[in-house]
Amino acid sequence: MRTTSLTLLFSAFLCAAGCSDGGDGAGETGGAGATGGTGGAGATSGSGGGATSGSGGGATSGSGGGAATSTSSATSGSGGDAATSTSSATSGSGGSGPAPARVPAASAGSLREAGEKANPPLLIGAAISGGGLNDNNYKRVAAAEHNYVTAENEMKWDALEPNPGQFSWGAADNIVNWARSNNMKVKGHTLVWHSQLPGWMNSMTGATQVEQAMRRHIENVMGHFKDRVDHWDVVNEAVLTDSDTGVGNPRMRPTVFFNALGERYLDLAFQMAREQDPNAKLYYNDYSIDARNEKADFVYEMIKGMVERGVPIDGVGLQMHIGPPNNVAGGADVAYNLRRFADLGLEVLISEMDINRCGNVVSAADQLTYYHDIVEACFVMPECVGITFWGINDGRSWLNSWSTARCNGQSSQSLLFNDQYQKKETYNRVMDALLGR
Ligand code: XIL
Repeated sequence: MRTTSLTLLFSAFLCAAGCSDGGDGAGETGGAGATGGTGGAGATSGSGGGATSGSGGGATSGSGGGAATSTSSATSGSGGDAATSTSSATSGSGGSGPAPARVPAASAGSLREAGEKANPPLLIGAAISGGGLNDNNYKRVAAAEHNYVTAENEMKWDALEPNPGQFSWGAADNIVNWARSNNMKVKGHTLVWHSQLPGWMNSMTGATQVEQAMRRHIENVMGHFKDRVDHWDVVNEAVLTDSDTGVGNPRMRPTVFFNALGERYLDLAFQMAREQDPNAKLYYNDYSIDARNEKADFVYEMIKGMVERGVPIDGVGLQMHIGPPNNVAGGADVAYNLRRFADLGLEVLISEMDINRCGNVVSAADQLTYYHDIVEACFVMPECVGITFWGINDGRSWLNSWSTARCNGQSSQSLLFNDQYQKKETYNRVMDALLGR
């Protein structure tokens, strides 16, 4: 908190000298967040944001020492394969160093099986949409290949509490019940987020009102799904940069929550969630913290502060939306970020992975390399507990129609299955990584 407050003060000082603060329409526009917005509310603000990033980076990896860095550098290069597991497997020099690498299954007929037979096991997830569950092929592939579900939209605030204190559970219950009938775990996504908020909540002001509304939402939602959902994204996307790639003037996003309560809204949200469920896993989740960039450093400092203050947080999800408009990260970048969050004593997850081919930012060959190396970066770390892909098949990817993703209705070719639900080469590369190849 101290660091971030200082950073805020510093950026306020810079802004006094002439930058705009990314506008206050935060709720509506929200960067990568989703609602299609204009891409980076703050795009205009310009000031040479770089000044703020500061401390995050280098200082961190410390504790794990050699082992941590060797893990990340091993995963880096194009080939990667065997080198990784060996180098990190040898790590555990004792003390607080990273745990020995996860041991892969000898063989597996599905991604799900590869995750279940690994030691320790790794959750293999997918974002599931209510619409998808009307399609038998979608359902078949989703359940055969995954054992972890995130509702793509149905558990967001606007879906669950469209009017103050009036809850609507049907669509979410469908997904949760389908998941459980297929022996899949569910992650609740997401309790506190600036996007996909109903208008009444987005326009609320006053600390007491906002805190009460947040408490009512968290209590009712976690209460309703208690015993069925024990992983939660408690706060999503609290940090903003000028570019959706995580570069430029990192700062707390000016949301209805931040505007009313300041940065302590994060602590409050996690405390409220912990009161509701002492055993649930409580996660912070964000995009473009996959690469080495200012946003990743800023979020690292923010989470470190929360851990130091004893806030009940269990882990951090790196969304892993690679390609336009978000960051591009390779295996070594991802290993570096996963490692430093894990060194805070937290679980880490890859929570929304897709790799967008639109705009030719990521070539077909690079996409295969990234899929392999990024999955491997998580796989070798026992602290990395799950990898969720943001959808099942290309045809249904949210990127196809999301304006800033540069697809303009074309296929983003971003996932593991094609429109006929056949496995793509991306699937094979993911499977290779899960089997230690
Ligand atoms: C996306 C959904 O996939 C879309 O269907 C919806 O229109 C917008 O939101 N980060 C998140 C997810 O945390 O909830 C977003 O999901 C993608 C970005």
